[in-house]
Amino acid sequence: MTQVYSVKQLVESSCVKSSVPSSYVFPGNPDYNSIVSDQAEGIPTVDFSLLTSGNPDQRSKMIKDLGNACREWGFFMVTNHGVPYKLIDDMMSGSGDFFDLREEEKRDYAGKTLFDPIRWGTGFNPKVDKALLWRDYLKIHVHPQFNAPKKPAGFSETLEEYSKKSREVASELLKGISKSLGLEESYINKKMEMESGLCHQLLVVNLYPPCPSQPELVMGLPPHTDHGLVTLLMQNQLCGLQVFHHHKWVPVKPLPYSLLVNIGDHMEILSNGEYKSVVHRAVVNSKATRISIGTSHGPPLDTIVSPAEELVTRAPAYRGIRYREYLELQQSYQLNGKSCLDRLRIN
Ligand code: SIN
Ligand code: FE2
Repeated sequence: MTQVYSVKQLVESSCVKSSVPSSYVFPGNPDYNSIVSDQAEGIPTVDFSLLTSGNPDQRSKMIKDLGNACREWGFFMVTNHGVPYKLIDDMMSGSGDFFDLREEEKRDYAGKTLFDPIRWGTGFNPKVDKALLWRDYLKIHVHPQFNAPKKPAGFSETLEEYSKKSREVASELLKGISKSLGLEESYINKKMEMESGLCHQLLVVNLYPPCPSQPELVMGLPPHTDHGLVTLLMQNQLCGLQVFHHHKWVPVKPLPYSLLVNIGDHMEILSNGEYKSVVHRAVVNSKATRISIGTSHGPPLDTIVSPAEELVTRAPAYRGIRYREYLELQQSYQLNGKSCLDRLRIN
């Protein structure tokens, strides 16, 4: 069996100082022209404290803003979310320390399949990737069953605490999103069985080592959309994420200690296309390691997600699918824009 090397190891072995191995050269994607906007601004900000405890006027204004953010961008920054800054710092440092473990130690988690509780690896799915990706990852199924690597010390506790906080923030956002769609506050949480104790939460740590010679030739994560209802993302203070907005790639400038939220494919299905899950990608730089940590929030694996009857004014635009089957479907194709969601579109 051929040994797959992590990008981190490749970079540290220093054999990529002057050029990038051809297996890592990303062939590009004709569906997404390469214009990068010089404007990093634009992604809306949502003040979580006003959404949850502001006075009724502030709250209804925030819900309106939230709806606009979902409709126009599919991405928004959340501030005042109540997740302790120390917990965010601990998540970042614990994640960095995990990737700093010896390769042999990480290899204990070199899982092969989607539902392995903990999976360390590189790329997306080597069976279908067009090229090797400049990204190592640690994927952990953190709910309904909590899992965590044994090392580094203390990381498990940090992960458990953060996963819980992230579910709490997601649940409040889903209340606001329900209202912004003209539904009962509890609508999405109920319909998606988010409070059944079985909702599915996957935590993914992405590590993008620097590409010293030709960062423009490689890709961290190709254009894609996320499964689930909402993804919460924290990132260290390096740019790299780009959102495809009005036919341009808009770079996201991280706002310290904020959480970036994006609408996932299942919110697009549930809202019958009212809120779109928006294509994004991660590019890399030549100097420093970027880390991002995403948590996706979806219903229990056996729940079928289909457009909410209350939102289907003409005809349903997507066929329903079991959450588990969607996750499997997404793994079986290379990451490529909205290609997975497109398979469920009616007409
Ligand atoms: C992702 O799209 O899942 C991660 C993007 C990022 O690294 O910012
Ligand atoms: Fe993503």
